[in-house]
Amino acid sequence: MFLVGSLVVLCGLLAQSSAQLAGLPLPLGQGLPSPLDQGLPSNPTGHLAGSFTDALSDGLLAGGLLGSLENIPLLDIIKSGGGTSSGLVGGLLGKLTSSIPFLNNILDIKITDPQLLELGLVQSPDGHRLYVTIPLGLRLKVKTPLVGNLLELAVKLNITSEILAVKTNQGRIHLVLGDCTHSPGSLQIILLNGSTPIQSFLDSLTAILTKVLPDLVQGKVCPLVNAVLSHLDVTLVHDIAELLIHGLKVVIKV
Ligand SMILES: *[C@@H]1O[C@H](CO)[C@@H](O)[C@H](O)[C@H]1NC(C)=O
Ligand SMILES: *[C@@H]1O[C@H](CO)[C@@H](O)[C@H](O)[C@H]1NC(C)=O
Repeated sequence: MFLVGSLVVLCGLLAQSSAQLAGLPLPLGQGLPSPLDQGLPSNPTGHLAGSFTDALSDGLLAGGLLGSLENIPLLDIIKSGGGTSSGLVGGLLGKLTSSIPFLNNILDIKITDPQLLELGLVQSPDGHRLYVTIPLGLRLKVKTPLVGNLLELAVKLNITSEILAVKTNQGRIHLVLGDCTHSPGSLQIILLNGSTPIQSFLDSLTAILTKVLPDLVQGKVCPLVNAVLSHLDVTLVHDIAELLIHGLKVVIKV
């Protein structure tokens, strides 16, 4: 990105000096368009993408993302049927495990060590939207009498947030959250230890987690993204929003 910036400057200088060398006046409007002339952000855009993801990431952490993930009452939710009155877990269990009294074999299940990994940023082809990938990692500690000990699982999940710029009637520009969902198929569950406990137990557990966990995590992350967007630095919001409105590149691929 530095390279692009300095190339642009260099080309500008070359254009100017060759024009001067030829003794010709530099025709107005033929120089490189200055971002300022167009009311566009003065910030080199390469920095913008990084500043934006940094600000989002900081905002999510400051907003208590990790604590709220850790406090998801997973055990209660699983035992109460996945939070749906129709008995999601019961239905799943009917299909998956006929012989093991599955729920009785979960004495406890806790989310620990939540982590926010490095955010990813891509821009829609038309340039008007950003998609922020929010990669999360956590551990699940499962207490079950089936193995003598704690069972530890590593979970990874991506939440993807769509971000758009809107202009209010008063001409004020905001960044707003569009779609915010877990990326399909992005849930990874890995057994960290416990030399293959009872496979059917693990299968049932994985099936239930796949059913409930992405929605639970999304339910914590998305409202927070929304809140963070509304508290971002005004200049940063303005610069990003101007680019999005004009369909210009915020994200520069290296
Ligand atoms: C999350 O998205 C990143 C790309 O931003 C990808 O590399 C990673 O594999 C994804 N993780 C999961 C668990 O799907
Ligand atoms: C798995 O690892 C945790 C600590 O990392 C330990 O407390 C637990 O006993 C282990 N479980 C098994 C089944 O080995």
